[in-house]
Amino acid sequence: MTTNVELHHGDCLQGMGQLPAGQVDLVVTSPPYNLGIDYNTYRDTSERQAFIAWCLEWAAEVKRVMADDASFFLNVGAVPKNPLLPHQLLLALTDGDDPLFILQNTFHWVKSISVETRGGDTISTGHFKPINSKRYVNDCHEYVFHLTKSGEVTLDRKGAGVPYVHKSNISRWGHTEGEDKRCRGNTWFIPYDTIKNRSRDRPHPATFPVGLVQQCIRIHGKGENTHLLDPFNGIGTSALAAVRSGIISYTGFDIDADYLDVTRERLRAEHEEPAETT
Ligand SMILES: C[S@@+](CC[C@H](N)C(=O)[O-])C[C@H]1O[C@@H](n2cnc3c(N)ncnc32)[C@H](O)[C@@H]1O
Repeated sequence: MTTNVELHHGDCLQGMGQLPAGQVDLVVTSPPYNLGIDYNTYRDTSERQAFIAWCLEWAAEVKRVMADDASFFLNVGAVPKNPLLPHQLLLALTDGDDPLFILQNTFHWVKSISVETRGGDTISTGHFKPINSKRYVNDCHEYVFHLTKSGEVTLDRKGAGVPYVHKSNISRWGHTEGEDKRCRGNTWFIPYDTIKNRSRDRPHPATFPVGLVQQCIRIHGKGENTHLLDPFNGIGTSALAAVRSGIISYTGFDIDADYLDVTRERLRAEHEEPAETT
């Protein structure tokens, strides 16, 4: 299916206000984290309470445009000196007698990992930004909070599933229904693509990988008939994932016109070159 991609230049709060209620199936986004990231247009340094209040405003619009069985995958990271931000934001979104959202799942997006094999080797894979510190270890993960209106949205657990290591489990457990696929769980190792030139290959300070959004599309499980929204489009990683997944539509907003131009270039290249895998 050819994805209908709509890119809007401007503030997502105002932009989402123009969208009809209840039409979006899936929201995957990574807002600014208020950690002083050097974006082109947005100033990423607000007073903490003002930042949370702003997040509650745009999140309320996200909720309004979501269908009742929609999923909202919210990617948030932290920095070692500011480790509580993801949790403070999550609490604000889910707090009170009438919370905006219910936290249905918490995923750990693992960017880099080292695994000791049974043979005694250590395999290290993925990419991370090294931290030069005596106090803090390298930060190799971010959160992806899965928020829904009801807490009861059905997912396609096996849509993002993995084969069994021990094939005897397939016949041993009735719930497998004979299929060599199990739920992957909530630790997602999704590395960034290796790039040669930062300003040319990833001209934005805070992107997520296409594979992260594709995983959300798969686990959401509505197939081609998925309307995806990313209110903080950046350079269009979610748009690319929508196109690669062949879903029906994508809507993105960003306040920076240059990032939207990069999005258009990436989408053009996508149609000219074979899809990369992550
Ligand atoms: C963390 S980045 C998103 C990156 C994106 N996930 C990607 O992979 O390219 C956050 C983006 O939000 C944009 N932004 C900040 N405030 C905004 C607003 N009020 N409305 C729309 N976009 C905004 C910034 O310009 C920035 O590109």
